[in-house]
Amino acid sequence: MDAQYSATLETLETLRAESLAAGGKRKINAQHEKGKLSARERIDLLLDEGTFEEFDVLKTGRGGALEAEKTYAGDGVITGHGSIDGREIFVFSQDFTVIGGSLGEAHAQKICKVMDLAVKVGAPIIGLNDSGGARIQEGVDALAAYGEIFHRNVEASGVVPQISCIMGPCAGGAVYSPAITDFVFMVQESSYMFVTGPSVVKTVTHQDITAEDLGGAGVHARESGVSHFTLPNDVLCLREVRRLISYLPSNNRQRAPLLDLRDPADRTDPALDYLIPGNPNQTYDMNVLIFSILDGAEFMEVHSDFARNIICGFGRLGGQTVGLVANQPAVLAGVLDTDASFKAGRFVRFCDAFNIPLIALVDVPGFMPGPDQEHGGIIRHGAKLLYAFTEATVPRISVIVRKAYGGAYLVMNSKHIHCDVNYAWPSAEIAVMGPKGAAEVIYRREIQSAQDPDAVLNEKMAHYRRTFANPFLAAQRGYIDDVIFPRDTRHRLIRTLQVLEGKEARRPKRKHGNIPL
Ligand code: HXC
Repeated sequence: MDAQYSATLETLETLRAESLAAGGKRKINAQHEKGKLSARERIDLLLDEGTFEEFDVLKTGRGGALEAEKTYAGDGVITGHGSIDGREIFVFSQDFTVIGGSLGEAHAQKICKVMDLAVKVGAPIIGLNDSGGARIQEGVDALAAYGEIFHRNVEASGVVPQISCIMGPCAGGAVYSPAITDFVFMVQESSYMFVTGPSVVKTVTHQDITAEDLGGAGVHARESGVSHFTLPNDVLCLREVRRLISYLPSNNRQRAPLLDLRDPADRTDPALDYLIPGNPNQTYDMNVLIFSILDGAEFMEVHSDFARNIICGFGRLGGQTVGLVANQPAVLAGVLDTDASFKAGRFVRFCDAFNIPLIALVDVPGFMPGPDQEHGGIIRHGAKLLYAFTEATVPRISVIVRKAYGGAYLVMNSKHIHCDVNYAWPSAEIAVMGPKGAAEVIYRREIQSAQDPDAVLNEKMAHYRRTFANPFLAAQRGYIDDVIFPRDTRHRLIRTLQVLEGKEARRPKRKHGNIPL
């Protein structure tokens, strides 16, 4: 080996070591003291052991415009690819120890490179975000860099799954890339997301608020719905990302991988015959049905703390991933409100984009009435769910378990919006509205003029219930394909999914629909 080549090798080693050292031991320790892992430790936990291949280790920025800035090999983000359960994944992990993980031109170019490759190859892209946002020293170049990432997020939407983990601060433009991605994971107490931080809030609105109360994981899990999954620490967060990937196809041309959990397809559950209480006003937990029917009782709930009156998540039936959308009668009687409609609408669209069959478990008394909901846009938000189910071309199945009233019946994957196969339990009640509301409208005069109005109301309600609060009228019309025994639900769903396997749906040519956002 000649001396010059040997020197080149040494330079390469030095530059690589510089890149690996990132912001230095002291800053990595500071990261650990905050309960956060380093950017490289995160990648190691996310991917199958020893599979990570890094790109752009040596790439540096041009330095800031303010003054001659020090540049860093890698420019504060680690990018590359590896595998999860043997399937190819692209990843970027922002390094807070290098200029606060802030996003400059080179940093963004590295991210864009792996995003472009992910789309070309058809593999998911996972972003581990820990960044002070646009790198202030780079001015408009940093803003332009964000724009390039947003553009790619949108181009990749519906093509490959995009997952964001928020594992540190995320301010300003840094929240919008994750917001466009399909799923956002947040780590409790070490991550936050906001458009403007507490100090700007104080200046503009004179309000005192902590970062945690303004944009912590709890707030985004419960109030805003920005976070789909909230985990107590980095380790559990990355483990859950791996779990989510196991349910998803790598791109929109593929089906999700089959996973045989050795749960017999013909397993029945006689306890389900007793799930629905005799009294229609009494509640029960829809999770009992969900966990009973799914393979191995495994369910990955999305948005578990947000709009809990509807349950969305992934499970498997006969080894195949399905997207479940289920009303939860144990919360607000399972009513559809603005948040529930938004939550389920976005979930349905994700499943449709990625070839995941949809199953609706229906027990819905209607849309939430009242000025708060009307003024909050229940018409607009409810229309999202209606639109999402209606446009979905993946195999669609519904099981009406109990109530299915009015517009909410139609919206929840009814036959009338072209659901493929609709089942009902014998306990199903399918009508324009519940017995009390209906009796009060159609027998108002008779009830008002009666000597004992309550007695007449009760009699009319009982009559209405006998006539409408059952699945038989809908079954006679063919709106329900079969009234099934609850105990057989799992088996019937698996058979129906098999039969719908070859479903093909054609849509008229258009640029895109105009979902009511
Ligand atoms: C340059 C930054 C930076 C940034 C942090 N640093 N944010 N450098 N640009 N945006 C640097 C700090 O100077 C510091 O450098 C190191 O990173 C660590 O930051 P600390 O402040 O010491 O850490 P901490 O106390 O944990 O606070 C983290 C923080 C805070 C909350 C993120 O740094 C912060 O508020 N940063 C600014 C956030 C922000 O407003 N970003 C711009 C958003 S606007 P040294 O050398 O001391 O280690 C935006 C517009 C995009 O993103 C629009 C696109 C459409």
